[in-house]
Amino acid sequence: MLSLSESLLNVEESRTMALSALIKKLKAEGKDVLSFSAGEPDFDTPEFIKKAAVKAIHANFTRYTANEGYPALLKAIVDKFAKDNDLNFEQKNILVSNGAKQSIYNVLMSVCNPGDEVIFQSPYWVSYPEMVKLAGANSVVIETTAEANFKITPEQLEKAITPKTKVFLFNTPSNPTGAVYSKDEILALAEVLKGKDIFIISDEIYEKIVFDNEKHFAIGSIEELREKTITVNGVSKAYAMTGWRIGYAAGNEKVIKLARNLQSHSTSNACSISQAAAVAALTQHSEEIEKMVVAFQKRRDFIVEELNRIEGIHCPKPTGAFYVFFDVSKFYGKTTDHIKITDSSSFCDYMLKEELVGLVPGIAFGNDDCVRMSYACSYEEIIDGINRITRGLKKLG
Ligand SMILES: Cc1ncc(COP(=O)(O)O)c(C=O)c1O
Repeated sequence: MLSLSESLLNVEESRTMALSALIKKLKAEGKDVLSFSAGEPDFDTPEFIKKAAVKAIHANFTRYTANEGYPALLKAIVDKFAKDNDLNFEQKNILVSNGAKQSIYNVLMSVCNPGDEVIFQSPYWVSYPEMVKLAGANSVVIETTAEANFKITPEQLEKAITPKTKVFLFNTPSNPTGAVYSKDEILALAEVLKGKDIFIISDEIYEKIVFDNEKHFAIGSIEELREKTITVNGVSKAYAMTGWRIGYAAGNEKVIKLARNLQSHSTSNACSISQAAAVAALTQHSEEIEKMVVAFQKRRDFIVEELNRIEGIHCPKPTGAFYVFFDVSKFYGKTTDHIKITDSSSFCDYMLKEELVGLVPGIAFGNDDCVRMSYACSYEEIIDGINRITRGLKKLG
């Protein structure tokens, strides 16, 4: 019998991507589906970025670039880190990849050995546990609660560390909760990590999308952690460029060297035209980005208020990203003629089938009491969606 890769048979399909595909299919069939599953801004890529890409095409910047990214982009990334994050890198510390997703994967593959442990919190971004498996390592998940604003404490981190701990995978602002760690909270976590042989992979892809005067702080800028932190970022979320696929990792030269080697034998360089567009995004100041963040903040205020009006729902107010993550477990055990709601998946199935509302089950992020709702959509859609959710909940006995 032909057999398949044991390690890949163990890896689950990305649930968020599968759900997006299902929603697209329903829409193509003519169904009036409202999707709140998007992991991407609904804004268009700003004009000045698109122009840079068109210019690159006309200049025939269409060939392979250096595997790690072309020099102008490496320089733009070095400058960005110095300006925004107090992180001082040289070009040899940087690797540009096909999205931050590939950056994280490359780095995990570069530092993990079989049996190593990777610590991260729940709720977590869907891909973390699967990437850890792909790297042959084991996930150690720290649970958090809405009461704790979905953040871990230094005590929890300390407890999770074992002699096998290789990586602390950290994400602020967070997908799916929108939680943002303050500088003081990060300094407290750093106290636990100082002096330990543990790499930190810091996923800062939502850095620019923070509200209420919250400030993003990069854990890698803490002196004692500089050598062991790999900071990951990209242009997908901040510049509405998800389809362009540009992300980057920066840090310890030895780790980046291995990650570069891995990429050189898998995908080679990220798309040359997208790289040229990313240079424009990172080097030209644009008010469009600030406007987008202001729009997200207003929508956040609106959606949190509206959701909290629904009996049985309590929605915490996030301070970053473009998601709300709220508990729906009060509705578990309820039924209609044909469906019994028992968990976050059956809750979302019900909302999709009954009300044509696409929400992402919290179980995809390691929390089965909650669902994630993205507000990267219009007010009309939010209002319509909340009406549908309210109606759907009323039908439950
Ligand atoms: C927390 C987090 N990290 C990384 C990524 C990857 O982003 P990209 O590969 O588009 O750069 C995402 C995308 O949804 C994310 O939510």
